[in-house]
Amino acid sequence: MASIVQFENVGLRYGTGPETLSDVSFQLGRGSFYFLTGASGAGKTSLLRLLYLAQRPSRGIIRLFGEDTVLLPRTRLPGFRRRIGVVFQDFRLVPHLSTWDNVALPLRVAGVPEEDVEQPVREMLAWVGLTDRANARPATLSGGEQQRVAIARAVIGRPEMLVADEPTGNVDPDMAERLLHLFDSLNKLGTTVVVATHDFQLLNRIPDAQMMRLDKGRLLDPTGALRYPPPRSRP
Ligand SMILES: Nc1ncnc2c1ncn2[C@@H]1O[C@H](COP(=O)(O)OP(=O)(O)OP(=O)(O)O)[C@@H](O)[C@H]1O
Ligand SMILES: [Mg+2]
Repeated sequence: MASIVQFENVGLRYGTGPETLSDVSFQLGRGSFYFLTGASGAGKTSLLRLLYLAQRPSRGIIRLFGEDTVLLPRTRLPGFRRRIGVVFQDFRLVPHLSTWDNVALPLRVAGVPEEDVEQPVREMLAWVGLTDRANARPATLSGGEQQRVAIARAVIGRPEMLVADEPTGNVDPDMAERLLHLFDSLNKLGTTVVVATHDFQLLNRIPDAQMMRLDKGRLLDPTGALRYPPPRSRP
């Protein structure tokens, strides 16, 4: 299968501290579904930030959509980022915009005519159960409601790749399942999905999903996308 992302011996160091990610190598198949797991502090958010180009690696090669991102001129970054839907661990909604306008934002930025914005936003809000909160500002929403706005905003443009960081951390199990169904539907339309989560209940819900497991900055699981480090043979 063609890969949409390739990491080769990627390392990430913040400032002069120790490496947060070391020797991370993997490929993501276009159209596949991945879960990224690992203890708090293992480096999940850091790895996702590299994926959606919020952060450059300290070493190694990252290819995205077939291009070497280290060589990518800054002017091309926004075009790349528009192809990726991101659900941030801390939501990052636009504070002065309503729920409706936050969710509509990616379509408007992409230049979709206003008459074609209304229906998808209406459908998306219904799906995440926020129709009656359409006019609310983020500060007046609960954590779970903000999370659902963030998810609606990330998926509405049907991005080529969806990167979601603990997207169900603030919602109840029924809603978590509903949101996962949304990711699954998007995946079936061709979007490559990467979901970082602590929630082991979720992992079994997508039978075809592959697992990537981080431990102290290194990818562990040899069965999924991950090929490094090689599994240690037992004595
Ligand atoms: N901007 C930063 N500057 C310095 N260190 C950082 C920064 N961001 C993360 N770190 C460090 O990198 C390590 C990995 O953090 P990261 O947020 O990637 O972990 P995580 O797996 O997402 O954890 P969690 O499950 O708690 O969200 C941690 O030790 C953290 O303190
Ligand atoms: Mg994190």
